[in-house]
Amino acid sequence: MYWTKRHVLICTASHCSQKGAMDVAGRLRIELIRKKLDAEIMVNNCGTIDLCDMGPNVVVYPDNVILRGVTLKDLPDLVAYLRGGDLPDRMVLNAGSPDEQQRRAFYAEAIKHDGPMPVEDFTALAERHGFDQAWIDEQARRGFIARKAAEEGAPLLVTVTTKTRTRYRLNAPIEQAG
Ligand code: FES
Repeated sequence: MYWTKRHVLICTASHCSQKGAMDVAGRLRIELIRKKLDAEIMVNNCGTIDLCDMGPNVVVYPDNVILRGVTLKDLPDLVAYLRGGDLPDRMVLNAGSPDEQQRRAFYAEAIKHDGPMPVEDFTALAERHGFDQAWIDEQARRGFIARKAAEEGAPLLVTVTTKTRTRYRLNAPIEQAG
């Protein structure tokens, strides 16, 4: 966007809103006005960015930075960053973040299964990787997995989708944090 230096998108879809995203968005706008940064930094609410369990989530362009778990107490750090400072590691999600690697490791193991996986096996594997049923259900809603029976009345099978393989770069080596 040619008239702004940065564009900040704050997810205010249901999960992030339940964890205070609207307050974060509102307070951030006020802080930017107070610091006379509102002309060069645009803040918009947005829909889900598929990180629902980590929210409230914020994306900053053109930096291409994802911030997760952003609460009111993180606002001073966020504003300092938008004024040209550094971001604390705890706020940044990238391919090397422990929670991102946890997901990647889980899906890397899941796709080793020969074809769609019985729901019970998928659930057991997820649990071994530290994920619960609510997380699995959210993965299905976000399109990271598909649950489907081979035929009517048959048990449900789980397929890891192309979206997931792309998202977690499952054909590429794991990037290190940095
Ligand atoms: S609700 Fe914010 S990432 Fe899904």
